[in-house]
Amino acid sequence: MNSRKFDVLVVGSGIAGLSFALTVANQGHRVAILTKKNSADSNTNYAQGGIACVTSEEDDFESHVHDTLEAGDGLCDEKVVREIVSEGPVRIRELVDFGLRFSQLDSGEYDLGREGGHSRRRILHVKDMTGKAIEEALLGQVARSPRIAMLEHTFGIDIITRNKLAGRPQGEDPENDAVVGLYALDVHANKVVVFEAPVILIATGGIGQVYLYTTNPDIATGDGVAMAYRAGVPVANMEFIQFHPTTLFSHDEKRFLISEAIRGEGAILRNMEGRAFMPEYHPQADLAPRDVVARAIDAEMKKTGAPYVWLDITHHDEAYLKERFPNINATCLKQGINIGEDRIPVVPAAHYNCGGIETSLNAETLLPGLYACGEAACTGLHGANRLASNSLLEALVLSHRGAEAVAAYLKGARRENGTLPEWIDYGGNNEDERVVISHNWDELRRAMWDYVGIVRSTRRLERARARIRNLAQEIHDYYWNFSVDSGLLELRNLIVVAELIVECAAQRTESRGLHYTIDHPEKRAFFEPSRVRRRPDQVG
Ligand code: FAD
Ligand code: SIN
Repeated sequence: MNSRKFDVLVVGSGIAGLSFALTVANQGHRVAILTKKNSADSNTNYAQGGIACVTSEEDDFESHVHDTLEAGDGLCDEKVVREIVSEGPVRIRELVDFGLRFSQLDSGEYDLGREGGHSRRRILHVKDMTGKAIEEALLGQVARSPRIAMLEHTFGIDIITRNKLAGRPQGEDPENDAVVGLYALDVHANKVVVFEAPVILIATGGIGQVYLYTTNPDIATGDGVAMAYRAGVPVANMEFIQFHPTTLFSHDEKRFLISEAIRGEGAILRNMEGRAFMPEYHPQADLAPRDVVARAIDAEMKKTGAPYVWLDITHHDEAYLKERFPNINATCLKQGINIGEDRIPVVPAAHYNCGGIETSLNAETLLPGLYACGEAACTGLHGANRLASNSLLEALVLSHRGAEAVAAYLKGARRENGTLPEWIDYGGNNEDERVVISHNWDELRRAMWDYVGIVRSTRRLERARARIRNLAQEIHDYYWNFSVDSGLLELRNLIVVAELIVECAAQRTESRGLHYTIDHPEKRAFFEPSRVRRRPDQVG
């Protein structure tokens, strides 16, 4: 029997998974962190701007709450916003206790950054490499914990539930079902392993790879959202995909982020004629919420036919820019752009999923034993548009609250005793057929970019839906006829994510926050989150 037993399985090693694992292990539980690549491969590692948190005398919770609600365009859950904002400072102090050193002024106070939609300076940062510093601090703590096993190159495939064991359809009556374990691919051994645990935390991060152009690294394939959906857990607000307005234009598909913190320090967006266009679109001009800025850039690019717009920070001298934004400065220099002298060519790219697995403020999902936090979860904080730098904050607060809820759940949880069924490998390898994976992956990402992007329409959504349906059928057949590998598993999950985005977008017959459709440009008076849940009889 290949079963491995733990109290808690954490799928993902970004800020959400690592902080949750640390708190749960401190309660005395045995934890395994499963991560599909190296432990530091995460969106967290790429975070630039920082963490939004009220730490200064000139700021207050009410103002942070107000800015979050404004950005969320009527869809935030105010109670959730208030809790997360007010719990921020305690969680930040823990990071500092772990050795994280946020950038400071000569006076010793935090050097607070500013980003779009924030009415005050409140972003704690480590120059422009905040995520890397967080990831290193958390991984350092995890390495010291005797109760945490870090299992790299271990790809979570699907949740095992009591329903599954009893031969009942996945997703039937989830409130009376429960988590019992997980199938995961040991990528190096090329073998599926069975893990046994009454609790799973999904902390698998974002979905950026469903789009052709994204700021997200390769790991962002929405695996956790797809897993939870297949287990019958509701997924919400998936139409609200945040496109970051400013990524470095390049001729390949990779998009390097040019942090909004640059605009926080006075950078100005200009069109091809050199005109600063943002004041025409919003009173906050270059620091308007992201949805507004991304749509404005899209409109300017369409008007002029240019493949990018300019971002101009040349009013600062090179020495300052090198010190404050070392990573952006160095990356631009490699492309022959000296940001102290040259304007930076920028374009929007898919950046963040405001929707995800529906959870309570304690990271609980509808399925007992299944928890979710970080970008994979939808708590109600972001509503229709996330306020910049609120996601790292949300991950910190929810992972802590989730860990506390797990402690209570484990006291009454029933455990299996080595009775979980082995994975059945239905197929073999067929190298000739492998081309289907890369071809379908490209087709999916292009269709999502062209038809479900910054500006949408009912007809484009229908086009996307038809293409995704064909791809889903092909990958379904492939999945049941060949052995699984990471590429196939990721594409299978991305197709589910694409279906969920299109389904939620189709449900929203209005334009709100990040969802803009030319067929319904107005906001509805009555509104609610979009929500999708797998039918128990659904195939795939
Ligand atoms: P991640 O950090 O993405 O971690 C997910 C983990 O899950 C990874 O370890 C991955 O390998 C693993 N994983 C995924 N699928 C599987 C699977 N099937 N099996 C096993 N493991 C799996 N937010 C801010 O608040 N401030 C910022 O300044 C900021 N800047 C950003 C800059 C960039 C370029 C990007 C891309 C994002 C930025 N964000 C920022 C967003 C923020 O970084 C993410 O939302 C946040 O880091 C997500 O954390 P997470 O722990 O949920 O997921
Ligand atoms: C950025 O630095 O612009 C990204 C911040 C975020 O996504 O919250």
